[in-house]
Amino acid sequence: MHHESIFITGGAGFVGSNLAVSFKNKYPRMRVMVMDNLKRRGSELNLTRLKDHGIEFYHGDIRCPEDFPSAEYDAMIECSAEPSVLAGYDGNPLYVVNTNLTGTINCLEEARKRKADVVFLSTSRVYPYDSINSLGVDETETRFVWKEGQELDGWSPKGISEEFPLRGPRSIYGASKLCSEYLLQEYIAMYGLRGVINRCGVIAGPWQFGRVDQGVFTLWMLAHYFKRNGLKYIGFGGKGKQVRDMLHVEDVFELIDKELGIMDRVNGKIFNAGGGQDVSLSLVETTKICREITGNQIEINSDEVTRPADLAIYLSDNSMVKTEFGWLPKLSAQDILRDIFSWISKHERQLAILM
Ligand SMILES: NC(=O)c1ccc[n+]([C@@H]2O[C@H](COP(=O)([O-])OP(=O)(O)OC[C@H]3O[C@@H](n4cnc5c(N)ncnc54)[C@H](O)[C@@H]3O)[C@@H](O)[C@H]2O)c1
Repeated sequence: MHHESIFITGGAGFVGSNLAVSFKNKYPRMRVMVMDNLKRRGSELNLTRLKDHGIEFYHGDIRCPEDFPSAEYDAMIECSAEPSVLAGYDGNPLYVVNTNLTGTINCLEEARKRKADVVFLSTSRVYPYDSINSLGVDETETRFVWKEGQELDGWSPKGISEEFPLRGPRSIYGASKLCSEYLLQEYIAMYGLRGVINRCGVIAGPWQFGRVDQGVFTLWMLAHYFKRNGLKYIGFGGKGKQVRDMLHVEDVFELIDKELGIMDRVNGKIFNAGGGQDVSLSLVETTKICREITGNQIEINSDEVTRPADLAIYLSDNSMVKTEFGWLPKLSAQDILRDIFSWISKHERQLAILM
């Protein structure tokens, strides 16, 4: 790791704050700066934690170029976003587009001025949902599984690879992230910026303020911990069998730390990075583990209607990132849920207010 200073946008959010703390812990002499507009409910709870770790916080909005600090840094990690796949479905796409796309351009400009390397947190949601849902699925007792022997470019039983075709709708969230990827690639080609793109599956872990539309694994554990009824298995028949891979935020740190250390090699590359087949859960399976860990059982309702852009299964094929520099997730689904549980136990009073 050769960067001396890092600027993290969305740095009071779940991924950004965890990365900031992990970088500071691993490289105590590194200057770590974050900027956040605190739009996400709960992000304000991270401010004390950031301060305690010697991380500089700037209250600012990436939509406004004048909000960016004038400080120098040699790496930027772009983690600010409206991260919900349902964003804009209420009929107003302005916030998600202005933040996830226009805001990215402002970030890239700041990076360009300083020749800072850029790590862009993208998403598996750049892949079109109709194509993914066109894959046939079987149903086991607890989850959907892809049928064997299917043929589709970019798909294998391991999951979705970077070769998966990009034609078709993907949600405004996914589209805004894909357009940002394109812009970063243009900045790399035109201005000689160095950058890397990670298309992550679901990321989970402590300090995520889980909502129904984003952060479902934390939401599930919070509801079990605080014995709040009201969770629902939504869509695909309402049985809770849809499957997502999950990645501990500490595994994301390891990925980005490695990438920054070999930026010449990974410059311009796009990687799928997720828990993959080995670290994945359905909602029903998540319920079972949450019950075991908390000892609590809550009522979970069912809503058969599938929401827009929802997927029956998403698993990341990590083959490329593994081949390129040997990264693979280390933490299991149980590890992740246990870690979320112990975070909630330690911060019960603060978190109860958010529930
Ligand atoms: N969490 C996941 O499962 C996941 C999966 C794939 C990709 N990602 C990507 O990772 C990044 C971080 O996501 P997260 O889970 O930490 O979300 P988060 O909502 O916890 O964090 C995002 C932060 O950005 C801030 N923010 C929102 N709009 C802003 C603006 N206009 N200006 C400045 N700050 C703004 C929010 O207040 C929040 O603190 C996002 O780019 C997201 O697309 C997340």
